[in-house]
Amino acid sequence: MNGDNIYSADLAEIIITEDELKKRIKELGKEITASYNPEEEIVMVCILRGAVMFMADLAREINLHVVFDFMDCSSYGEGTTSSGVVRIIKDLDENIEGRHVLIVEDIMDTGITLKYVVEMLKTRNPASIKIVTLLEKPERRVEKHIEADFVGFEIPNKFVVGYGLDFAERYRNLPYIGVLKEELYS
Ligand code: IMP
Ligand code: MG
Repeated sequence: MNGDNIYSADLAEIIITEDELKKRIKELGKEITASYNPEEEIVMVCILRGAVMFMADLAREINLHVVFDFMDCSSYGEGTTSSGVVRIIKDLDENIEGRHVLIVEDIMDTGITLKYVVEMLKTRNPASIKIVTLLEKPERRVEKHIEADFVGFEIPNKFVVGYGLDFAERYRNLPYIGVLKEELYS
């Protein structure tokens, strides 16, 4: 069934199927809901553009008052390794002072991007900041930049695409997550 996708020939393997994504995101939604007081409103901050799919699906599994906001920051350019330089391309529209912020990220690799974002948002005095990341690469733990409060899946240190994650802006619309064939970027 997955063989029908125009991108499937570019993948070395599929590591997370649509069903697995759906099931885990349901669980994450329950965990996140239970971690707040029922009357609290949370500002879900989607880190563009990779977290768009995850944000849309996760939000529907969170049973709380939720407000959406979006932030675009980039540390990658068109390559597959972090440049270490974080640029804010689009800032939040909401004032987060005194509010509960939930940062929604696609993947934590080195953690450099999120570390930067969290430090910046803290200066605006939110009531709390939590992080949910769909994917986490073990590599990150060596660098110890930052911890996520909720993690969907730990994945091997391979370059993955799909379900929002891109290579040179493509593959975001692949409905599952796969490892990109190395010959396509090396
Ligand atoms: P970090 O600053 O090293 O944690 O990089 C995080 C960002 O790099 C993510 O938000 C992604 O946009 C991108 N990234 C890291 N690993 C991958 C990958 O395997 N596939 C696609 N994008 C990735
Ligand atoms: Mg990216």
